[in-house]
Amino acid sequence: MSGNLVIKNASQLVTCSSFKAKQGKEMSDLHIIEDGALVIEEGIITAVGKTEDVLAVSHEADFYSRGFEIIDAQANAVLPGFVDSHTHFVFAGYRDEEFSWRLLGHSYMDIMKKGGGIFNTVRATRSAAKEELIETGLKRLDSMVSFGVTTVEGKSGYGLDRTTEIKQLEAMKELNNRHPVDIVSTFMGAHAVPQEYTGKEDAYIDYIIERVMPEVTDRNLAEFCDIFCEKNVFSVPQSRRLLLKAKKNGLKIKIHADEIVPLGGAELAAAIGAVSADHLLHASDKGISDIAEAGVVATLLPGTAFSLKEPYARGRYMIDMNCAVALATDLNPGSCFSESIPLLFALATLYMNISIEEAITGLTINGAAALDLADTAGSLDVGKTGDAIILEYPSYKFIPYHIGVSTVEKVIKKGTLIFDNVGPLNYKKIF
Ligand code: NIG
Ligand code: FE
Repeated sequence: MSGNLVIKNASQLVTCSSFKAKQGKEMSDLHIIEDGALVIEEGIITAVGKTEDVLAVSHEADFYSRGFEIIDAQANAVLPGFVDSHTHFVFAGYRDEEFSWRLLGHSYMDIMKKGGGIFNTVRATRSAAKEELIETGLKRLDSMVSFGVTTVEGKSGYGLDRTTEIKQLEAMKELNNRHPVDIVSTFMGAHAVPQEYTGKEDAYIDYIIERVMPEVTDRNLAEFCDIFCEKNVFSVPQSRRLLLKAKKNGLKIKIHADEIVPLGGAELAAAIGAVSADHLLHASDKGISDIAEAGVVATLLPGTAFSLKEPYARGRYMIDMNCAVALATDLNPGSCFSESIPLLFALATLYMNISIEEAITGLTINGAAALDLADTAGSLDVGKTGDAIILEYPSYKFIPYHIGVSTVEKVIKKGTLIFDNVGPLNYKKIF
């Protein structure tokens, strides 16, 4: 599925140009080309520039005769497809009851301690057929596409046993084959301590290392390894042990760090060369300067803080301290059951003091960098994958301005149009 396509007459071609994460002040520069055009050949971007320049080199008629599709952006803004670099989108069952308990004041961790939370989803996912995970996964991916997402990361971690962890990763592999969105898989067998191992965290880490990880790496089922490094879950030394082993086995590293309490997860991420440290609601000043210096992407998930009614991560401070910040949804059935990109933009810009430009960087090139994909995705640069979105408005500023509503009109994946928001039915014809 790779197409030949020209997009012309973009009021703003928001290129987000870069082949690496943007740190600190660089995050404000979106490298916009006014009245821009983009050429995608066999799925890869081959030209980026002003419409008149791009069409002067090769005329529209030439493109037509070579079998290209031409989309007129009609003076609307064009951006790279969004990269949602942290989700747990493959799961079975829902936790709507627990959501209502949280509204009554029960905390996320208390619900988990009583056998709910992640354990609730583990029970449902263990008993679900792989095909069921694939069917719901396909629907969730479709919804993400409607928000402009063209690359998504997904984690295992609702099995906490070999069979189910592998089932989840196999489902993601199958989804990657069956759906146009690119899926980056993360092995998160250490998402929680399974109830069978209560009080025996180290033995569970041994089990993951000895019994599950070899199959994951031998069969190439994941690119990353992640762990919930948290008080009452996995300690910093346990996390270090697992992640260093993963690294040795060729997996790249992510960490759920300092989400509920300040434990030193950010410091660990910097010390062991993680690609990203995620959540960071309670990251210390030292942790933040460590990740800035080590070039670890700080992946912030404001939807989760919002849903848990926790204070937001210190995104403004992190950018001011020269971090590369990525923004992601954390879509999961518990702490944040939302794949909404418009919600993410609203929270980042209105409540975290992150500028619109920085938020866009966080969902494009820095999201790609959080997946180690900055050389192929996340910007409209020649040589990158042809993933783009066309808004229904002339300026990228409409993305957060139209609060909570998707402004995405068309989505292009590898040069092929995969979503077109044609709008409601033509009522005049009906009545
Ligand atoms: O990123 N913190 C741990 N994991 C997820 C939540 C998973 C769940 O509640 O199902 C998170 O918040
Ligand atoms: Fe998460």
